[in-house]
Amino acid sequence: MTEYSKGLEGVIAAETEMSFIDGKKGVLEYVGIPIGELSANSTFEETVFLLWNKKLPKKGELAEFTAQLRDRYAPPEQILDMIRTLPKEAGTMHVLRTVISALGMHDDDANANDLEAARQKSLTILAQAPALVAAFDRHRKGRDYIAPDPSLTFAENFLYMLNGKKPTETMARAFDICMILHADHGLNNSTFTARVVISTLSDIYSALTAAVGSLRGPLHGGANEGVMVMLNEIPTVADAEKYVMEKLANKDRIMGFGHRVYKAKDPRATDLQKLAKKLAEDTGNTDLYEKSSKIEEIMEREVGSKGIYPNVDFYSATTYHCIGLELDLFTPMFALSRLGGWSGHIIEQLTDNRLFRPGAKYVGPHDQPYTPVEKR
Ligand code: SDX
Repeated sequence: MTEYSKGLEGVIAAETEMSFIDGKKGVLEYVGIPIGELSANSTFEETVFLLWNKKLPKKGELAEFTAQLRDRYAPPEQILDMIRTLPKEAGTMHVLRTVISALGMHDDDANANDLEAARQKSLTILAQAPALVAAFDRHRKGRDYIAPDPSLTFAENFLYMLNGKKPTETMARAFDICMILHADHGLNNSTFTARVVISTLSDIYSALTAAVGSLRGPLHGGANEGVMVMLNEIPTVADAEKYVMEKLANKDRIMGFGHRVYKAKDPRATDLQKLAKKLAEDTGNTDLYEKSSKIEEIMEREVGSKGIYPNVDFYSATTYHCIGLELDLFTPMFALSRLGGWSGHIIEQLTDNRLFRPGAKYVGPHDQPYTPVEKR
């Protein structure tokens, strides 16, 4: 057994060819391509192809992959019927977790987890998840379901199904960039969860359902929602100093800051900051951006020396808000994108599997007598 490391901090638990992270320098690459290059030049569909195939697609390969995805946009009617029975006040990540699990019940060979099955199922789940999130949001608002439009990109189609009208080019591109930036990130908690589950040769639906459950947590994907709550709690930019200093004094975590791996600014935060600034100016939300950059300035001064910087969740909150997404849709957005990374890791795990089974350091007593209940 190796030494005990709480939270597996510093432990390497898998090999991957998808994301490379240099936490000290704040570097993230997908299959060796710097994340800034991809967010500036790629699309979510192309990025998923890259992650799954470890290379950028040729024109024909991208066209075929995109067509396969669009052919699967429409979810099973039975799942849409199920969504209409869900309580309108159900948590959005609970709904996503439930519907991904339910998709498995409408898949005749749900338990198949050979590589081709994993790839095909991943494609179907990735293609259908946006319609399921949009369907629930419209259900809870008493609006009719809007069927996917296979002439639209992944990003355009989600915003269309959610809002009932096609998004502007600016909003569709902003959402596409968010999807690129959230797609994969090494062995984060939810990805590790997916790999742990599939390592027992369980099915992909179980692995992805578990991953959604992990991502919901406020220490992980749920932080983007927490950032927005914080921004709404701070009345004006001038109030940020007092708010942050009080939180830090109470040893509270400032959502959207800190990272187990990054001890420099998360490069995704840098990209999202640019996007948030532009969208905030375009949509009259400059107060959100100004509060965010003020909080960043205070945190840099107070805890920058401890390696605590903005992570991916900090500026994604303002970005998602400016795109017009409601607060409790922020983490589901993270999940829609991360379905790409989770699936890639499931395929990698199945390619060279070894059951995950770490040890536990026993710290309890030994040689204890069994005391009959009358004498306890
Ligand atoms: C994501 O792993 C990934 O790759 C995840 C992710 C991905 O793409 O999948 O990047 C996405 O999950 C980003 C993280 C989103 N979470 C948050 O923003 C929640 C707030 N952040 C913290 O809870 C924290 O920074 C974690 C959970 C992200 C990381 O925590 P660690 O590595 O366990 O570090 P820690 O909690 O032990 O903190 C170390 C020190 C502590 O101070 P001391 O007790 O040593 O004096 O740093 C302080 C903490 O108090 N600290 C913070 C802080 N984060 C750490 N202080 C104030 N605010 C914070 N946000």
